[in-house]
Amino acid sequence: MKIIMLGAPGAGKGTQAEMLAEKYDIPHVSTGDIFRMNIKNGTELGMEAKTYMDKGLLVPDELTVRILLDRVAKDDCKKGYILDGFPRNIPQANVLEEALSKLGDKIDYAINVEVPDENIIRRMGGRRACVACGATYHIENVPPKKEGICDKCGQELILRDDDKPETVGNRLQVYKDQTQPLIDFYSTKGVLHNVDGTKDMKEVFETIVAILG
Ligand code: AP5
Ligand code: MG
Repeated sequence: MKIIMLGAPGAGKGTQAEMLAEKYDIPHVSTGDIFRMNIKNGTELGMEAKTYMDKGLLVPDELTVRILLDRVAKDDCKKGYILDGFPRNIPQANVLEEALSKLGDKIDYAINVEVPDENIIRRMGGRRACVACGATYHIENVPPKKEGICDKCGQELILRDDDKPETVGNRLQVYKDQTQPLIDFYSTKGVLHNVDGTKDMKEVFETIVAILG
């Protein structure tokens, strides 16, 4: 099963992808998490990606596409995967489609998590992220058991550099200009499902599970 999570920054793609990955026992592949891990480890890739991420811009396609295609070619992706944050524009979607069709394969579901801008700004302000394992928390909605520490792996939680209010505005604009057209793209392919992301995260999860069957 190959699933794409669509939705604005802060819509809850990562939160849902993580829960789905556990239920269906397939990897959660987030390009944002891969970049953040590289930034933490001080790699060249991380340094390059950071210059774009801190401005709320997309990392160039050639870099992102290579990383994504390498990741999904790994053995653990043979049964399927959940893509979170990729594709993020039409050119990336076309590259993915071509790569899959060479393998006689395709995307099965594109889940679009819909949340209005007002909710998003509130969610991002309170978000805390674990760079080590990709888990996501919220200081009010989803607090960790111990403040500042990841429940799953015990590492310190961070406030993402791109969650500053001035960067969030840019990310929302980039989403509208470049990523939103993917909703029509996947609708035309007959795989799009819209989900109300303003509901409680468990309710959102159950709605998605009902779609996936
Ligand atoms: P990325 O890491 O993908 O960030 P994003 O798309 O901006 O999305 P977020 O991770 O901010 O939000 P989310 O939808 O995962 O929400 P979450 O579950 O955390 O990308 C970051 C940057 O990397 C990009 O700007 C770009 O520079 C670069 N990049 C990444 N991929 C790229 C690509 N393919 N091409 C080019 N560049 C790329 O939830 C948000 C908060 O809300 C959390 O605190 C959570 O606990 C809370 N929450 C979740 N669900 C609920 C709920 N139902 N009710 C209440 N609170 C909730
Ligand atoms: Mg995310």
